[in-house]
Amino acid sequence: MANRTTFIGGNWKMNTDAQGGIQLAQTLASGFQRDAGVDVAIYPPFVYLRDIAAKLGGSGITLGAQDAYFQPNGAFTGEVSLDMLKDCGVSSVLTGHSERRHVVGETDLLVNKKTRAALDAGLQAVLCIGETLEQRESGKTDAINEHQTRAGLEGISKDQLGSVVIAYEPVWAIGTGKTATPEDAQDAHAKIRELIATMYDQQAADAIRIIYGGSMKPGNAAELMAMPDIDGGLIGGASLKADDFLSIIRAGQAHQV
Ligand code: PGA
Repeated sequence: MANRTTFIGGNWKMNTDAQGGIQLAQTLASGFQRDAGVDVAIYPPFVYLRDIAAKLGGSGITLGAQDAYFQPNGAFTGEVSLDMLKDCGVSSVLTGHSERRHVVGETDLLVNKKTRAALDAGLQAVLCIGETLEQRESGKTDAINEHQTRAGLEGISKDQLGSVVIAYEPVWAIGTGKTATPEDAQDAHAKIRELIATMYDQQAADAIRIIYGGSMKPGNAAELMAMPDIDGGLIGGASLKADDFLSIIRAGQAHQV
């Protein structure tokens, strides 16, 4: 089985202000041990990216963006291009986050265009998928995960897949305090990995990181990451508190050893 490096992402969503965001980034930069064998990325709001890039310096923490538009430039009022993000020091982008799908209304097609554009621009893409409560209760979890994975990765080569992380985030667990049990999450992750083997091959399936998101916190991170197919986490609420986020990173390191 491939040796996958644990990935921990902090999705700040539409939170913090300039001073608070910079402070948080600074605290994380000084608290993170870069040779700890865990990949860590933070996803602050667009408007603070440049300032935060300056604070992350040589900390080893990757700077990411919560979204990006797929077109390179032009008349797309309000959108932000991948080159603009690269100018700000960004090297990872979230695509298809459930709040973009369900609050803003992004379609599978748009998510795919953004994922492809991020990879074409040489960035890492963290493709987020996951079922709603209604879909889970009607037994559609695996079908939704399969559909969103296939649609999100349409046209992406095996080579490019090396720069993709899949975040399985059951919508009902995001920001609700409800977490999938480690067994339920493991089951979903294992099925997504099998799907990748079908779509690409076993080597690609063994190599890709599939991380869990949805109310991951210091108290449950270790047991989730102890599961064989859970390769890290995408953390919302708990990434806004430096102590909590650093403690989740430490749980990831323990899993890595
Ligand atoms: P949460 O968010 O940790 O606050 O549930 C996770 C996410 O949306 O990525």
